Amino acid sequence: MATTKKPVRKKNSTAKSNTIKLKFDTSWPYAPAPESKSAATIHKQYDLFINGEWQKPLSKKYFDTINPANEEKLSEVAEANEADVNRAVTAARTAYEQVWKKMPPKERAKYIFRIARMVQEKARELAIVETLNGGKPIRESRDFDVPTAANHFFYYAGWADKLEYAFPNRGTAPLGVAGQIIPWNFPLLMAAWKIAPALATGNTVVLKPAETTPLTALKLAEIIQEADLPPGVVNILTGAGATGAAIVNHPDINKIAFTGSTEVGKIIQRAIAGTNKRVTLELGGKAANIIFEDAPLDQAVEGVINGIFFNQGHVCCAGSRLYVQESVAKEVIRKLKDRMESLIVGDPLDKNTDIGAINSKQQLATIRKYISIGKKEGAEMYESSCPLPGKGFFCRPTLFTNVAQSNRIAKEEIFGPVLAIITFRTDDEVIEKANNSPYGLSAGVWTDKGSKIFNMTKRMRAGVVWANTFNKFDPASPFGGYKESGFGREGGLHGLLPYLELKG
Ligand code: NAI
Ligand code: MG
Repeated sequence: MATTKKPVRKKNSTAKSNTIKLKFDTSWPYAPAPESKSAATIHKQYDLFINGEWQKPLSKKYFDTINPANEEKLSEVAEANEADVNRAVTAARTAYEQVWKKMPPKERAKYIFRIARMVQEKARELAIVETLNGGKPIRESRDFDVPTAANHFFYYAGWADKLEYAFPNRGTAPLGVAGQIIPWNFPLLMAAWKIAPALATGNTVVLKPAETTPLTALKLAEIIQEADLPPGVVNILTGAGATGAAIVNHPDINKIAFTGSTEVGKIIQRAIAGTNKRVTLELGGKAANIIFEDAPLDQAVEGVINGIFFNQGHVCCAGSRLYVQESVAKEVIRKLKDRMESLIVGDPLDKNTDIGAINSKQQLATIRKYISIGKKEGAEMYESSCPLPGKGFFCRPTLFTNVAQSNRIAKEEIFGPVLAIITFRTDDEVIEKANNSPYGLSAGVWTDKGSKIFNMTKRMRAGVVWANTFNKFDPASPFGGYKESGFGREGGLHGLLPYLELKG
């Protein structure tokens, strides 16, 4: 196997180095290009957003929220208890019965459009806050998270008064109050994914962001307030698992939408069994990315890098299992290692950063645990030689070769920048291996042959299959999984259904 030369990082390299050496030599660091924190306002303390107002928590408790890139406190946010949840659900119920469900759909649409436009107007600030609080590179929050969040509001605003065309000859009715619980990997985008279709279909909302990333949801609450949305239509409560459980268990909630761990997904399913609450669960994944020998290899390598390393691997649909055809395995692995060497890990606010901070100390510990499990299981580890910042939670991009299908690093969700590589010879073999997973959220296929793409996508048991690309999203296209990855679809026309009762 080709070995990759570990570059020596010298700050003051001169222009004397020859060009061939420069190709993989990362000893010329990019000059820092940090986005300015001053374009964002973060208050010292945030209360709960209930009934269109900022209300002090009845719990009287607040907790700190930090920047995972330097462990500094950014703000403190209220911790909602059961009584606070009750206040929010009551506000949402009243707004539903008295205002929102009676409002002509085209009027509802105007509010959602207004929110979409305000998200666009405040895009720069939202991206900075997302990056400060969650650790993801500013390039990701600026170019993906925030614009995609705005697009979701635009897209669903468009459906609000066209439901009769979406479901012809079927009357539709909203469900009532939706409880929405979201994770820390796409805080603003997940809020948009959940709030936009709920509002478009005439439901009201109680949403809880994850405990490590509450700030952009609170910024969205400010936008919602400024957009003059009728009080109580959207309520935003901060807190941890207990707050989430209080939402799930509240008797006056009609629907739960959850994105997060399979473990909590199962708890929620048990908790609502026997009630008439509706539920959608978007849980974990262990996506297979399959490279055939006829694939455009450089493009495929870039797709793999994008699929698992950008965003620190904090993506439920991350391409964490790479299946590569034996005849090109050596070449692909060499190219991957070369490319990994050029990835910049560091300050998430820097526009050159490829891999930012791991979201929390706890998540970093989970990733490290899996890296040591991989080594113990006998797989061969390779990590890039990049330097890591002295403070904050960071992890080098890491890959494992000589991985067996039965290894835990090939089966379990790691949710970090760790890639497990397995080789294969035939189509049937790779289909069997790729489908042999408790999860089934997404997958990728890289090949030059259109017929192979159709054949593979038909046989893959995954909700989304990308061909010659990876991690592409559009509000018009539905997203969701099979098996332990959950059920229900978000996005597109399909994303309206979980919030509607169809008649006739
Ligand atoms: P988690 O599932 O505990 O947290 C997700 C959300 O659920 C948060 O808002 C949390 O406060 C809330 N929650 C926690 N316990 C709850 C309960 N009993 N009832 C209601 N809500 C509850 O996920 P966590 O612990 O942050 O991450 C653990 C693992 O989950 C990660 O390592 C990753 O593998 C997976 N994960 C998957 C995500 C996805 O997008 N599918 C997102 C985040 C994590
Ligand atoms: Mg948890």
